[in-house]
This record gives sequence, C-alpha cells and structure tokens, in this order.
Amino acid sequence: MPDSYCHTVVVISGSGSNLQALIDASVASNFKISRVVSNNPDAFGLERAARDNIPTSMVNHRDYENREEFDLALQKAIDESQPDLVVLAGFMRILGQQFVKAYAGRIINIHPSLLPKYPGINTHQRALDAKDKEHGVSVHFVTEELDGGPVIAQDRVPVLKEDTAESLAERVLEKEHLLYPKVVSWFAAGRLGLAGNQAFLDGEPLPPGGIQVHP
Ligand code: GRF
Repeated sequence: MPDSYCHTVVVISGSGSNLQALIDASVASNFKISRVVSNNPDAFGLERAARDNIPTSMVNHRDYENREEFDLALQKAIDESQPDLVVLAGFMRILGQQFVKAYAGRIINIHPSLLPKYPGINTHQRALDAKDKEHGVSVHFVTEELDGGPVIAQDRVPVLKEDTAESLAERVLEKEHLLYPKVVSWFAAGRLGLAGNQAFLDGEPLPPGGIQVHP
C-alpha cells in the first residue's frame, strides 16, 4: 500500500455502521483505516474491523478513575497507529480539552442533526418534538465544545408525518453512510483545513452549516 494514503483511526462505541461505510469506501479511496478503537468491549464495530483484519484496541472507560486517565489511554491507543486523521464514528464519550488539543485540525465527528440544532443525544426525538420539517446529519471538526466545532458538511432528509424517532434515525443513517466517506476523502486529499474556529475547503472558508450536500 503506497504511503500517500491518509492513515485514519476510527473511534467507536457501538454498532459501527458508519465504520462499515468507511471500510467499504476505503477500498477505492485515498484513505486507509489503520486501527479501530472502542471504549465498549461489546461494540459490534470491533467485529466489523476484525472481519477486515483491521487492528483493534479496547480502552474501556470503566477501567479508569477519571476522564483525564481515560483520555490519555485512548490517546495512547490511537497514537500506536500514528494517524493523519482521527474519525469519531458513533463514539459516545465526551472528550477532554487536552485530548482534543492533541488532534486539533485532524479530528472529525459525525452527529445526527443539523447542527447547531440538537447537540447531545436523542436528536431524532427532539426534531420530532419540535415539529421540524427537515432533519439531517452534520460532519464537523471536533473542538472543545460538545458537538460545537465548525461544520464541514450536512445532508438532510424530510420529516414525514408518520415518522417515529426510529424511522427518522434510519433515514438519517443512510445519509450518514454517504456523507462520512466523502468528507474523509476530502481530508485525505488535503482539501480540508481548520484555522481557529473556521473550517476551509480548497482554501475557501466554509459557511456556518458547511457544504450542503442536498440544499
Ligand atoms: C449514528 O447516528 C452516529 O451519527 C451517532 O451514533 C449513531 C450510530 O452510529 N453518533 P454507528 O452505527 O455506530 O456508526
């Protein structure tokens, strides 16, 4: 494998369907998944990685006294692969300031809402409760603010009358699986950047909602 690939570590907590989309896309793209790290020993994503012979690391938050110690262990596991990019994919822990600083400008997250709407959890139910007409997904640079870093790209789905949180989550997830590999390949091609709290694509500052994949 040529060294021009963008070496990527994916950090997960659960099912890893976004991880799977990244694994599938990486076969014909400019990035390579060097390692998968999970904080949850039961995460199905670990099996997905093993199936593809991708090295895995388990860093169980329950084994650490505090967030700082957990963050340090997580950092150690990630750094074993010396990645160019860290991709959080369904990772359900809040990361501390030191950790985020260590990967500034090369750590991204996917969040199932049209940020800045609905940071945190239960995003689909919150969109339904607010009677939103549209809902969607955002990929953003990770900064110290929870789900608050500059948005790189968004894709959206209509909210249907008959939607439940589950049906909405399913449709958003389909968009997630298309959007995340696309953004990772932009990063891998050297097209994405972060300066302070501003994201750039091809040297141009991105607007607050990032690139709208389906305006
Ligand atoms: C996804 O909606 C992701 O955006 C969110 O967790 C969900 C599960 O993702 N943060 P996955 O199947 O583990 O990739």
